Amino acid sequence: MSTSTDASASTADRYRSFAEVEARGMSATYEAWAAGVATDASTLALIDELPPPKRQPNLVFSAARLLGAPSGAYPAFAEWLAEHWGAVREVALTHATQTNEAARCALHLPVLGSIEGPIALIEVGASAGLCLYPDRYSYRYAGHPQLDPVDGPSAVVLDCELRGDVPTPVPAGMPEVVWRAGIDLHPLDVRSAADVDWLDALVWPEHDDRRARLRAAAEIAARTPPLLVSGDLNEHLAALAASAPSDATLVVFHTAVLMYLDEAGRDAFVEQVSELPGHWLSVEGRSVVRGIRVRDDVPNESSDLVLAVDGVQRAWAHPHGRAVTWAANP
Ligand SMILES: C[S@@+](CC[C@H](N)C(=O)[O-])C[C@H]1O[C@@H](n2cnc3c(N)ncnc32)[C@H](O)[C@@H]1O
Repeated sequence: MSTSTDASASTADRYRSFAEVEARGMSATYEAWAAGVATDASTLALIDELPPPKRQPNLVFSAARLLGAPSGAYPAFAEWLAEHWGAVREVALTHATQTNEAARCALHLPVLGSIEGPIALIEVGASAGLCLYPDRYSYRYAGHPQLDPVDGPSAVVLDCELRGDVPTPVPAGMPEVVWRAGIDLHPLDVRSAADVDWLDALVWPEHDDRRARLRAAAEIAARTPPLLVSGDLNEHLAALAASAPSDATLVVFHTAVLMYLDEAGRDAFVEQVSELPGHWLSVEGRSVVRGIRVRDDVPNESSDLVLAVDGVQRAWAHPHGRAVTWAANP
């Protein structure tokens, strides 16, 4: 885990690291805010009123933006935060960082397209469940014709760059998903304006395209809301898998989730998912899932995630689904 989310680091260090490592090149606003907080004793004192896990820059900034903090230079933000601290603290205490990025479906689709259907999907760490609708979005894989849902083009169009020399197995048609369900510690409801506003606030300030996609994907999901079980993924996976239709191929998947678990929790998950029928699709940071041999022989960016099927890495994946680098068979 990065130092910005390391609850043992000092708050100033966490914000400095967030500015320099995570926000730089991704959000000028968050870089400026985090660098400003790191050297501002009054704001640090406010943030230190929160329990350490709640001092994360992403959580505090999202809470502030949800409540109307002005984008722009740090001094105006600091003044606003001091004035509205009570309300920001309350939001930080009652909410969690659980960004839901529908564009990650562009990473999952080549795998789902190669699995014999019909398919029953279970996403662990589903947030609001937007990644449970891969068959309801349109895809533009570079160099391939646009791929649309069976009833025509979707309001959500996902662009994905294909990197490297090994062809990505882009499917010719949509997978047939006949059942979908998820598990999350704090499931968000796509029908709730407050929950969608929170997901919106979690998207970084300059990422307007992601915000538009979030709203459009939430509308699609709200037409047939997903079954989301509230609780720990290790406690609920077996029962949920047992309730999936037995005449469909079960696919359990997760993206950017297992880093929230400690090592024992990750190992327990891997053990139980490996015993289920069907397939397991994992898209996680490079050191997160023990037992998956990482393909350093395939070109990758340091921020890329390891995309693995049934415990074998098949590709490197951009964390937000913008690009994928397929690997030759090991
Ligand atoms: C970064 S979000 C990713 C959401 C979604 N997978 C996506 O790719 O858009 C991680 C999610 O995992 C959930 N989570 C973390 N630990 C969990 C656990 N032990 N059991 C169930 N869900 C968990 C969080 O609540 C959060 O919604």
